[in-house]
Amino acid sequence: MDHEKYSYVDSLRWLANKYGIEIEETFASDEQKQQIRVADSLYIINSFAQQFFTTTLFETEEGRDIGLSYLKERGFREDIIKKFQLGYNPEARDSFAKAAIAGQYNSELLLKTGLVVTRNDQLTDNYRGRVIFPVHNHSGKILGFGARILKTNDKAPKYINTPENEIYVKSKILYGSYFARMAIDKADECLLVEGYTDVISLHQAGIENVVASGGTSLTLDQLRLVRKYSNNLTIIYDGDAAGVKAALRGLDLALEEGLNVKLVLIPDKEDPDSYVNNVGASAFNEFVRSHKKDFILFQLEVELKDAGADTIKKSEVVNNIAETISKINKAEDFTKQQDYIKQCSQILKIDESGLHALVNKFIRNRISTQEKALPPDRYRDEEVRSHEENAQKAAATDYDDTTFNLLFKDELQEKEFARVLLEHGNKKWNGGTIADHMLDEILDEQLFDSADVVKLINVYKTVLKNENIKPDKNFFVYHSDPAISSFTVSLLNFPYEASEHWKREFSSSTGYQQRLFEQSYEDFLRSVSVGNETELMTFLKMDEDKTHVEVESALNYLKLCKIKRMMLENQVDLEKKHTPEEYQNLAQTHEHLKQMEKEISDKLGAVIIK
Ligand code: UTP
Ligand code: MN
Repeated sequence: MDHEKYSYVDSLRWLANKYGIEIEETFASDEQKQQIRVADSLYIINSFAQQFFTTTLFETEEGRDIGLSYLKERGFREDIIKKFQLGYNPEARDSFAKAAIAGQYNSELLLKTGLVVTRNDQLTDNYRGRVIFPVHNHSGKILGFGARILKTNDKAPKYINTPENEIYVKSKILYGSYFARMAIDKADECLLVEGYTDVISLHQAGIENVVASGGTSLTLDQLRLVRKYSNNLTIIYDGDAAGVKAALRGLDLALEEGLNVKLVLIPDKEDPDSYVNNVGASAFNEFVRSHKKDFILFQLEVELKDAGADTIKKSEVVNNIAETISKINKAEDFTKQQDYIKQCSQILKIDESGLHALVNKFIRNRISTQEKALPPDRYRDEEVRSHEENAQKAAATDYDDTTFNLLFKDELQEKEFARVLLEHGNKKWNGGTIADHMLDEILDEQLFDSADVVKLINVYKTVLKNENIKPDKNFFVYHSDPAISSFTVSLLNFPYEASEHWKREFSSSTGYQQRLFEQSYEDFLRSVSVGNETELMTFLKMDEDKTHVEVESALNYLKLCKIKRMMLENQVDLEKKHTPEEYQNLAQTHEHLKQMEKEISDKLGAVIIK
């Protein structure tokens, strides 16, 4: 499996084939068995055809004069032509068809392979006068062919490809994977080009970790195929506009699959084939190395350039990039996501926390769509609706609008409050429990925006009154109301299953602080006036149990958030017309809130620095 990069089943098949052992596929239904029989026959015909085409290329006058000389003129060496099993189909009406019929191949199956077509009730060669590129599967069996025209002809297509059949499924094929798989493994990088000739020329130049998509945008199946070999995908396309668009299309899928995608554009109307032939292998490698661009940043550049000074378009760009970043959603890629948010907000010259909130919005939207796919449930429906309402509110607001940021920050703080309550509520605190303390401190759930959090707090309070039940995490995880249990699970994984990562990466309270501030790690360090990470870690380690830090922080950040919101509302009020008395009241409120804000900020500082 390791050596050939085969799946377990493929390894068994390979071994069985090598030692002539028959494998009985016991789980196949009759229909499946029939399909397997057809597939096997198609492989056999393709193999016969490949031998016919290769023999024709090397051993007939027409093959040598037309096919082979064309390939050689393009610079393909004979050893490479043989390795890729290239061939030639003669001009005559039915050279191949005749040979196939003489070999007693079934005409129905022959038609399925696309090697022949019916003209006037007779089997006729489909690839007449074309050079043939066999397409191998990952174990070297031939799935189909690409047949390239030699003359320039406006009417005929440049390539004729095998039609979709039992074995040729275009969306699952990466041309060259059979020849590239070991090199990809070794380099831990897969280069992706567009065409047959690109793959072969690079291979000939000693760059063997290369496959082709066949000129269309990548499919999910193709990306998964790449990921079997490596997580690093480098796309090398023509630099023309169409090439760029083709390269960008569908790449969000690659992010979802956790691939690191880089992009290299080949200059001056060249493609990788012509470019490597012009400049040679080492210059080509150097070009790729020095021109690799990060896919997300590249997309951002292209879109920004397109948008120019148009602000509406620019906000679309912000939305697009946030959506793209939100697709990086694997827990282990959390740091990567944070890095992108930072870099993109710098390029866009927008507030980092604004972009952060927007990315979160897209993640939440997706979660709510996923939940919609679950069986209908009254509570869940409600939850989905509230998610949607939030998303709509957000969409209607400009991305760096302060209210927008507050809206999402509030929800984060509320969730964090609920999480800490579930996590630590039962622990002792000043003669009571942490839950008592936390619930005392907030007094009024009216302050909460999140219906989920309010509901959870209400259930929590009810349970506290009941002496027989202890409101621990499990009680909520296994709660009979599925809305509560799923919300609890989402809280305990808050944010987005990254808690474990955070715990590993930073001590729980640094991770926690940073998360709440939604600011960069450096900014965070600056804000707590600790010189560097090591210093911070050293002094945090002295504080063994950080429960009280978490509890106090959750409370204080929540309060801070609410105070900020009240200040904002107050400010909006101030801008309206007022009697002097009203005005004075509002101004006083403002002063009061500002004072509270300062007190809490100071306290937060003290908690962190203590
Ligand atoms: P290109 O037009 O770039 O061809 O299409 P190429 O591979 O570079 O061939 P040369 O160098 O001009 O000889 C890229 C890929 O798109 C698919 C093929 O897979 C081709 O390799 N294609 C192109 C088709 O399937 N049909 C076509 O008519 C054209
Ligand atoms: Mn080309």
